[in-house]
Amino acid sequence: MEKREKGAIVRAVKEKNEALASSLGKPLGVYIVTFGCQQNEADSERLRGMAHEMGYVDADTPDEASLILLNTCAIREHAELKTLSVIGSFKKCKEKNPSLLIGVCGCMAAESHRVEELRHRYPYVDFTLTPAGIGNLPSAILDRISGGRRCFYLDTPDTVLDETPIARTGGHRAYVSIMYGCNNFCSYCIVPYVRDRERSRPSCEVVAEVLSLVRSGVKDITLLGQNVNSYRSDVDFPALLSMLDEIPGEYILRFMTSHPKDASDALVDVIAHAKHVEPHFHLPLQSGSDSVLHRMNRRYTLEKYMGVVKKLRAVLPDIALSSDIIVGFPGETDEDFEDTMRALEEIRFDSVYSFIYSPRRGTPAAEMEGQVPSDVAGARFTRLLERQADISREKNLPLVGKEVRVLADGPSKTDSSVFSGRTDAGKLVHFKADAEAVGKFITVHIDRAESFALYGTVTSK
Ligand code: 5AD
Ligand code: SF4
Repeated sequence: MEKREKGAIVRAVKEKNEALASSLGKPLGVYIVTFGCQQNEADSERLRGMAHEMGYVDADTPDEASLILLNTCAIREHAELKTLSVIGSFKKCKEKNPSLLIGVCGCMAAESHRVEELRHRYPYVDFTLTPAGIGNLPSAILDRISGGRRCFYLDTPDTVLDETPIARTGGHRAYVSIMYGCNNFCSYCIVPYVRDRERSRPSCEVVAEVLSLVRSGVKDITLLGQNVNSYRSDVDFPALLSMLDEIPGEYILRFMTSHPKDASDALVDVIAHAKHVEPHFHLPLQSGSDSVLHRMNRRYTLEKYMGVVKKLRAVLPDIALSSDIIVGFPGETDEDFEDTMRALEEIRFDSVYSFIYSPRRGTPAAEMEGQVPSDVAGARFTRLLERQADISREKNLPLVGKEVRVLADGPSKTDSSVFSGRTDAGKLVHFKADAEAVGKFITVHIDRAESFALYGTVTSK
């Protein structure tokens, strides 16, 4: 990989791209496909920002692109298989346009066995970049367009804390990554292996970024980190949140994802008293069984988790709670699963993202005995999903007849007069509106509540 100074690399790519663009009579296009979580969405905005800096413009289709980037997810096998099939679909683009560059970035590009697979079975992939290495995109492109060989970078310099340009695509909503990586090594999870250890950005940088977003009119800011509440630089997460909350303006601050072990009293206190922090907490429980939690290496018991929930509800009785739950973890017995079902009844989450356990190569759980047969895991998953859908609906019902503040997004794909938006607690709302509402806080009277959405009428703009 090139050792030149970053600015010089960007300029060198830009010059070469300009020469090629003028011979083609059109600017070079970049097409980015993002899989996975919000962290990947945010990383893709950095990839797009760097691509723009090198002279690429957004292409509407892969056929029009000179650079295709896939930002990949490795959290479950299903995500990986889907990604490989999308990569395969770009083979014909390369056949039509041999100067096309295809880069595979993100979590799959940090798994050595996947990188080997890409090297041997996907000869049209030009380079890979790990999540920590995405800031090396300009070097990877320069190497390749200067006649270098295909490159599969597993050990590039760590660029996560570097300032890179960000091309945001969220309009009035924005992601701000505040920490990267994970130290927890939950026994089922690939993240610590592909995203490395925790690194936090200095608080002054985060404050400056949020301040500039609020000043530019962004209304909804989500602070991101694999363990956002483990953020620690010159200050800790509760202190950062209260600093951000002091920024004047009309906006809402969200944060995800939190780990129960770091859900401190100080954090609860900040959420309770803040002006801008969402009345919502996403706190993955993963399982309601202490023995499963122990084998997951989660480092809390159900009782400890319930303690956090009680503290949150004591100060904010209507706070919305959401969670992640894995079913079919190795050794999960019927009794363990019943513990999870009981926990759902006791806690009554507003929403739950549930997943069937997927063995990840290299993680301790993949080697554990008692892998749960897929039909058993599937039946548990369906039961959990059905019960939680009822609970979610019951939790939404008290909002019927109330007026709530909603930040309006765009119209739905099927009916251009039906818009969607989010309440302060992050609940999805559908209502009739016109384009003028987009990006504004409006008041909506809730007429009907379902499990996954509320339906209402706009009462004030
Ligand atoms: N199998 C299934 N679900 C997983 N998650 C993480 N790793 C796995 C896995 N191997 C889930 C966890 C996490 C969410 C982002 O994905 O619930 O909180
Ligand atoms: Fe994975 Fe656990 Fe880290 Fe979350 S806290 S990213 S589930 S290892």
